[in-house]
Amino acid sequence: MMRDFDNDGGRMVFGGMHACDIADEFGTPVYVTDESILRENYRRIWEAFNRHMETDIHYACKANTNLAVLRILEQEGSGIDAVSIGEVLTCLRAGYSPDRIIFTGVNVGDQELREVAETGVMINIDSFSEMERLAELCPNASEQKVSIRITPGVGSGHGAKVITGNKGSKFGIPMNEVLNAYIRANDLGFDIRGIHAHIGSGGQTVEPFIDLMQILIDTSNAVSDAIGVGLEFIDMGGGIGVPYKPNEEEMDVEELSMTLTDMIAEESEVSRLIVEPGRYIVCDSTILLTRCVDVKDAGTKKYVGVDAGFNTLVRPAFYDSYHHVAIANKFNRACTGRYDIVGPVCETGDYLAHDRVLPDPEEGDLIAVYDAGAYGFSMSSRYNSRPLCGEVLVNEGRAELIREAENMEDLWRHQIVPGRLER
Ligand code: LLP
Repeated sequence: MMRDFDNDGGRMVFGGMHACDIADEFGTPVYVTDESILRENYRRIWEAFNRHMETDIHYACKANTNLAVLRILEQEGSGIDAVSIGEVLTCLRAGYSPDRIIFTGVNVGDQELREVAETGVMINIDSFSEMERLAELCPNASEQKVSIRITPGVGSGHGAKVITGNKGSKFGIPMNEVLNAYIRANDLGFDIRGIHAHIGSGGQTVEPFIDLMQILIDTSNAVSDAIGVGLEFIDMGGGIGVPYKPNEEEMDVEELSMTLTDMIAEESEVSRLIVEPGRYIVCDSTILLTRCVDVKDAGTKKYVGVDAGFNTLVRPAFYDSYHHVAIANKFNRACTGRYDIVGPVCETGDYLAHDRVLPDPEEGDLIAVYDAGAYGFSMSSRYNSRPLCGEVLVNEGRAELIREAENMEDLWRHQIVPGRLER
């Protein structure tokens, strides 16, 4: 079930603090992350898999690249799934050694590929084009660790925009070309380590992962026969969904891990599994606090206007995603009516929540948006010329700023007005 939080006399408690105090101290909108939840989530998934088989957790940092979050997971022993040179360098800066990072890009240009290869991280090859270009720009292919991303023909996710593993997808090497890809990688002299697939993000059922694992096992066995080398690992990607609604069932990670590792042990020679969870680790660790600034009765609808829009949290507007909301200063109070929670962006599509029952919202109330840790800040933008908001880390009653909110200067920092247009 969705995580809920303590109520102290009508005030929401998060990370041992009153959410209202955090908002008063740091301003709104602000993302607030509870360190203990991050650690707890990481340990839960690590233990579920490692109970059965040696499994490396490579946190998919696209979900949240805050350096403090990365530091915490580095301390926990996590590896990284990175998608760009920016993510690779961010993680190196956060203290991860290159051997703990796997780069899985799509449509990677030569310059980025060269820069990634120079860092020494393993590269998960997405296409024949990428493989040939990597071979050309690598001084010594035998020192470049690679894995190959296949398109398994199995997809899963919370919506069409985030399903990646289906046949015909832009990601990975099509099934009928996979053996040729490994043979070519072998001929080019790469240090071949594994096989990878990712079916999509936010799926809520175990079955697609089982179907995926069967394909990964069968393919890795066929690859070993074809190139005469056994693969070291199977990387099943990420995509483990989490509940966003109060009564939604949680995916049973214990059952998932047991089933998948049993399959590997019985049907393959591969001794190590890699899992790349993003959402599972960070999603419920973070709330977005936003202030109610305006309340409007539009006749057919009532609106709660807040200071965070899709510039701050785009998931509702972009994917129609559900995020639970509560009034942090009227926590668990009896509800009085139905409201849409809408932001300051000048578009009708700008909303955080539709049709929610809330306890008499008023200007000045503090709204907590739940489950904002995954693809929350990392997808935020400066649209409508609003600076990016801040991020705060809380731990056992202490709050620390982990990202300053931007200021107006930040809006103009990289812009150049040609001299001839100067005033
Ligand atoms: N591995 C690969 C290769 C991926 O592309 C992704 C996510 C993951 C792992 C982690 O997936 P997760 O465990 O977080 O589901 N912005 C969307 C989600 C996009 C996911 C992209 N790839 C959202 O807000 O729902």
